[in-house]
Amino acid sequence: MTRVGVYPGSFDPITKGHEDLIHRSLAFVDKLVVAVAVNVSKQPLFTLDERVALIKQTARDTAIDVRAFDGLLVDFARSVGATVIVRGLRAVSDFEYEFQMALMNRTLAPKLETVFLVPAFDLTYLSSSLVREVARFGGDVSALVHPAVQQALRQKLGK
Ligand code: PNS
Repeated sequence: MTRVGVYPGSFDPITKGHEDLIHRSLAFVDKLVVAVAVNVSKQPLFTLDERVALIKQTARDTAIDVRAFDGLLVDFARSVGATVIVRGLRAVSDFEYEFQMALMNRTLAPKLETVFLVPAFDLTYLSSSLVREVARFGGDVSALVHPAVQQALRQKLGK
């Protein structure tokens, strides 16, 4: 049986923290669908197509598929045959939101399990919003994102 996992998020943009979780997930799923949310409540810096393209450039593995999704995550997960939702937990501050989401998703789809992964220690402080902020003010993000993302940030922000 092929075990399919779905790793949802805004990925605005993908960071080394996301990359780390993607590769950790492959230890327990045969196929991982990285699911990029169309409807991000926050106004994203990168368009949906740009966010998808950047993930494809950074996470190259035949076991990884990158897809955009609109609507409920549980419906998307069902449509790709996923049995597991993967989310990262960096700090206690993530917990409340993640716990709410996991329980809501369980209410909507009882058989879909949410699995939380802890990123590499040196990436626990990392978030897309911090990366955007550092890049916006011309800071060095080379340790935080793939070179393709660094270049895309430079182009987007004119730095
Ligand atoms: O990277 P993010 O912004 O923390 O990702 C949040 C995301 C996209 C996973 C979440 O907002 C989501 O699943 N949105 C899809 C709509 C949905 O299913 N909402 C109910 C989940 S409780």
